[in-house]
Amino acid sequence: MIHQLVYYSRNTVPGDGRAMLTNMREILSVSQRNNSRDGITGFLIFDKTWFVQILEGERAQVTETYNRIARDTRHSGTVVINVRDVPARLFPNWTMGGAMRTPEVQEVYLQHGFGGPLEPARLKSDQIINLALDLQAFEMDRRQGQRIAS
Ligand SMILES: Cc1cc2nc3c(=O)[nH]c(=O)nc-3n(C[C@H](O)[C@H](O)[C@H](O)COP(=O)(O)O)c2cc1C
Repeated sequence: MIHQLVYYSRNTVPGDGRAMLTNMREILSVSQRNNSRDGITGFLIFDKTWFVQILEGERAQVTETYNRIARDTRHSGTVVINVRDVPARLFPNWTMGGAMRTPEVQEVYLQHGFGGPLEPARLKSDQIINLALDLQAFEMDRRQGQRIAS
């Protein structure tokens, strides 16, 4: 069984879109290094105010990773939405995929009924996972397109 944890938190890094992008890139780069070592996969959604993240892997590693993340001062008020065991990874190809909410991905949010800002306190973990799966698919299509174009 794979352990899966979904949480949200509030971004504490001030700044404009560019600062946020840099922040997101730094988080993802360290996450990818650590998570490949620890057998963690998942996805990180960043919607200006909010981070929403899915972590999956062995139970002890997921717990350890979450505890480390929760101490990070780049966000605050982490709230676990759900933990459960699942038969297989949902994000097997990503040590940590990530998507910042940009106009480019707005259509994906709209397909899930999120016209305005996310309100993570009102979300069910399945809604988050379904959004993350579609953001992942969108990102993979985009990369595929870039490869074909180049
Ligand atoms: C929103 C958010 C998500 C993060 N996700 C991960 C993650 O998936 N894996 C990870 O190792 N670190 C993650 N981090 C970074 C950790 O908080 C921490 O800075 C990092 O693991 C420390 O790694 P180091 O000891 O190798 O420097 C995240 C940080 C934030 C703010």
